Amino acid sequence: MSAPKPFFGANWKMHKGPSEARAFVRAFAGLHRPRPDAAVVFFPPSISLPAFREAAGRDDLELGVQDVHQETEGAHTGAISAGMAADAGAAWGLAGHSERRREFGDDDDLVAAKAARLVEAGLRPVLCVGETLEERDDGRLEAVLRRQLAAVVPTLPGAAARELVVAYEPVWAIGTGRTASPEDAADAHGTVRRELVEHLGPETADAIPIIYGGSVKPHNVDELLAAPGVDGALVGGASLDPEAFARICEAGAG
Ligand code: PGA
Repeated sequence: MSAPKPFFGANWKMHKGPSEARAFVRAFAGLHRPRPDAAVVFFPPSISLPAFREAAGRDDLELGVQDVHQETEGAHTGAISAGMAADAGAAWGLAGHSERRREFGDDDDLVAAKAARLVEAGLRPVLCVGETLEERDDGRLEAVLRRQLAAVVPTLPGAAARELVVAYEPVWAIGTGRTASPEDAADAHGTVRRELVEHLGPETADAIPIIYGGSVKPHNVDELLAAPGVDGALVGGASLDPEAFARICEAGAG
């Protein structure tokens, strides 16, 4: 079984409105050569999706949405639906990012509902899982990852499960400059893979990219991607800079 295609995600969080998104894309397009052997996916704020798409003018830079509401439409002031994100050009959606879990109360059931809405709208979910420092220190890493995956993975219809990407993002490494060691990443990715196999069987599970997120930078991306079972990166801070992210997207290129 060949390794999944590398996946590089840029999670811009609450950065870059439409004008800044356009400026970024112009700079990035001049630095990044299309890489058919990898997926490069940007998650700008949803308000910047159309500007990004128009400025990019090339299909290899794919788009995703950072968050969607758990219902398809209705009286939910301020929210956007998965269908709207698809209409605005998104092909992917994050679900379960630790900032959503912590700041907005996205618990496992809500994450599963949001993943379901993404799938129904034809978007591919990137399911984010990861432990806090306290959970790691208490020896609960494996239990937390298994719980977060078990809440969502079995609820996905078979075809959607095959389209899934899982991002392992230790909460203590996000935005802190503290990165998991390649050994820690390999160990956690092994746990994720085993849990995926349990729910989906080896054939489907082995095709799902498991990517690492948490202070990925140009200087550490190569060693992280060289770790066993690490199929790509979800990048926050360093994805805001076109040169840094273009460099990251070259990791593992033949
Ligand atoms: P970071 O964020 O690269 O700034 O640590 C990663 C993420 O939250 O996806």
